[in-house]
Amino acid sequence: MKNVTITINGNQYAVPSDLTVLEAARTVGIDIPTLCFLKDINEVGACRVCVVEVEGARALQASCVLPVREGMVVKTNNQRVRNARKTTVELILANHNRECTTCVRSKNCELQSVSEELGIRDIRYTGAKREGKYDNFSHSIVRDSSKCILCGRCVSACKNVQGIGILDFVNRGFETTVGPAFEVSMKDAPCIYCGQCMVVCPVGALTEKPAIDKVWDALEDPKKHVIVQSAPAVRAA
Ligand code: FES
Repeated sequence: MKNVTITINGNQYAVPSDLTVLEAARTVGIDIPTLCFLKDINEVGACRVCVVEVEGARALQASCVLPVREGMVVKTNNQRVRNARKTTVELILANHNRECTTCVRSKNCELQSVSEELGIRDIRYTGAKREGKYDNFSHSIVRDSSKCILCGRCVSACKNVQGIGILDFVNRGFETTVGPAFEVSMKDAPCIYCGQCMVVCPVGALTEKPAIDKVWDALEDPKKHVIVQSAPAVRAA
């Protein structure tokens, strides 16, 4: 693979020409925060948290979908870039269910980590909030759309990796959310409960149903849910 020379934060590096700016920066030990990016699964440039300044370009660019090119000059951490990232995350948080203390993903939430990294202490933006839907009717997946940040990772994992495609963007504009078509319950969608959507979700929008709730489900409807018990031991005569 041919190399190209790029300048990141004033230092020159030779990097393979098939990398994105995000990958090139990470290769040389420079961290750029991301939210929607998931290598080989979701490379869509949706969240804009990874923006960088590129010499000659007026607008900031999403580094996760920006290929490197010879002579490129990039700044990953100047004031303009930091302000843009902070504003983006504050806007996401303004429309997010922030009941972090009771969220199962607290302390293991990428939105929480990025907010901390960007030094967000309060949200400057208030206004309408998208109405969230809470669906815990399926055997194993709890969907809470009030926590969804529309990164699209679950959509890609369900459709492109697993080849199932029951999750997709639903509605438009401010009402956009992610779920099964017509926002039916996960229980009524042809979900195979592989769990990949929960694995890739960066927040608490798709989580595993607590074990105790699974037991209650089974007790309430014993015909539908089967509790597997070990077979009785066979005694020798
Ligand atoms: Fe690059 Fe979301 S991580 S746009």
